[in-house]
Amino acid sequence: MVSIDEINSYCKRRGFVFPSSELYGGVAGIFDYGPVGVELKNNIKKEWWKSMVQDHDNVVGMDGSIITNSKVWEASGHVDNFVDFIVECKKCNARIRADHLVEDVLKTPADGLKAKELRALIEKNKIPCPECKKGQLSEVGEFNLMFKTNVGPSGKEFAYLRPETAQLIFTQFKNIIETSRLSLPFGIAQIGKAFRNEISPRNFLFRMREFEQMEMEFFCHPKKKSECDIFDAVKKVEVNVLTAEQQGKKSPKMQTVSIDELFKSKLIKSKWHAYWIGFRVKWYFDLGMNPKNLRLREHVPAELSHYSAATWDIEYNYEFGWKELEGIADRTDFDLQQHATYSKKDLSIYNEATKEKVVPHISAEPSVGVDRAFLTFLIDAYAEEEVKGEKRVLLKLHPQLAPVKVAVFPLVKKEGMDTKAREIYDELRKQVPCFYDESGSIGRRYRRQDEIGTPFCITIDGQTMQDNTITLRNRDTLEQERVSLMELMTKLNKSLFA
Ligand code: GAP
Repeated sequence: MVSIDEINSYCKRRGFVFPSSELYGGVAGIFDYGPVGVELKNNIKKEWWKSMVQDHDNVVGMDGSIITNSKVWEASGHVDNFVDFIVECKKCNARIRADHLVEDVLKTPADGLKAKELRALIEKNKIPCPECKKGQLSEVGEFNLMFKTNVGPSGKEFAYLRPETAQLIFTQFKNIIETSRLSLPFGIAQIGKAFRNEISPRNFLFRMREFEQMEMEFFCHPKKKSECDIFDAVKKVEVNVLTAEQQGKKSPKMQTVSIDELFKSKLIKSKWHAYWIGFRVKWYFDLGMNPKNLRLREHVPAELSHYSAATWDIEYNYEFGWKELEGIADRTDFDLQQHATYSKKDLSIYNEATKEKVVPHISAEPSVGVDRAFLTFLIDAYAEEEVKGEKRVLLKLHPQLAPVKVAVFPLVKKEGMDTKAREIYDELRKQVPCFYDESGSIGRRYRRQDEIGTPFCITIDGQTMQDNTITLRNRDTLEQERVSLMELMTKLNKSLFA
């Protein structure tokens, strides 16, 4: 598997991702996306939005603000609970995330451990400061991850940058139902930036300080969380599963199980929760991710967030172990009840037919970082092959995700081939994202496209000038076929958007 460091430098070389404000030394955990990176990132967001919002008639979208009234985060519990544990070196004053330190030194998972447990492990194993190797470490303290900013000229008023997009959905919940004629069950989806002042951002795009989230809150009647009429669409999806019970065992065993079995055996308690878990797993599979590298892991009680009754993570087997790619929590009515209490506003829904007032439950909150998904799709698609004694790097990205769909090359820049190639390129780019390249040998041009995942390359040669046919080269099979210009677009559409 490609390492994180390799993927990081590859992303820089190929124009996917750069360190932000690099000219001035950058800021840890903050990155900018380059020309091909932004295309891949936009394609991921487009696919998510299409599948979650456009393909579901009971899901709508919104786009909330980043700077939010501090009361939102008091009500949500983030002011009190959104903390990581930190230790400080008494000698060099380095501040280190305690669970990461324990994981790094003892090579054992420390997710969900409390301050006392972390302190005990640090003391028992005499773990020194990882920076200066000499200093003693302080007691384990709490560090709130939210960024604060001033609002207005007084310098006295402050607000938070949102650490998740979800709360904006809860705080706009009433306005949205009043203007969108929604009835339960329904979802509200959002894509947008989130900010967390991570103690130790690391692993490139995996843990950042500024990132983007794709989240959907699915609201249900509390007694109808299993009345899901579209479950059949996902029930046969099979996926590797690690239950909470298995994690308590000495050698935990992963099993391949269908979503139907997970629901029937009551491992996933509500049908809507099971539906969205299955739907999200299927999304990754449909976009080409290798099922062997994905698993569902149930949260053990100690690691559940303060708002969650049950959470399943979709995890990926990274170079640094199985880690969360996406979380899908049952948030109950925690958030709406909290906002109703803090704002003193009624956030219930009234059903005219049954004369009933209910505060809906969030039966499922699929939540994934765009950047983390970006990194994972890249790692999963990255391949190195040997072709005729030469190393070829290629990205086997699903055509829907590929930044460029077709590259157009004249074999040589003479005998009208370049003019003809330009004409074809100008026509094609009206329909699909294309790239024109006439510099370097044809082999080099192919390799440059393989490296950014372009599924097809078209070459215009001497024969094109005589019979209007081109060669169409397939990134994955390396096959080249002669195709007439008349049938080119039909063929491309079939392969790219089938
Ligand atoms: N609303 C629920 C929520 O925010 P979370 O598990 O804290 O839950 C959801 O975050 C997803 O956001 C994660 O599964 C991950 O994909 C992404 N994410 C969280 N923190 C991140 C970070 N520091 N850098 C990049 N992505 C992050």
